[in-house]
Amino acid sequence: MISIKVIDRVGETHILEAPTDMNMNLMELCKAYELPVAGTCGGMALCSTCHVYVESENSLSDMSDDEIAMLDSTFFVQNNSRLGCQLHLNNDMDGLQVRLAPESGN
Ligand code: FES
Repeated sequence: MISIKVIDRVGETHILEAPTDMNMNLMELCKAYELPVAGTCGGMALCSTCHVYVESENSLSDMSDDEIAMLDSTFFVQNNSRLGCQLHLNNDMDGLQVRLAPESGN
């Protein structure tokens, strides 16, 4: 199990305990904890409702072309933007801190 800190859109901090052996991604984990992450496209990098800002120094997987393309057309993008559904939970993510991006309406 790893521990991930998620700051929601009202500034509240949630500590999520996450299994690394269930092939889950960060979007699915947030949904499991009933955080306001819609995950509308089901994790296909097609909706950006799982957009987060990474606020810790964990080493994360490189972005796929699909993730880059989706973030290109998303509002409120910052240098530390990622799509939660593209972050598959692994031991390198222990202690990760992310903040939910504002909802962009797409
Ligand atoms: S759930 Fe749709 S882009 Fe991540």
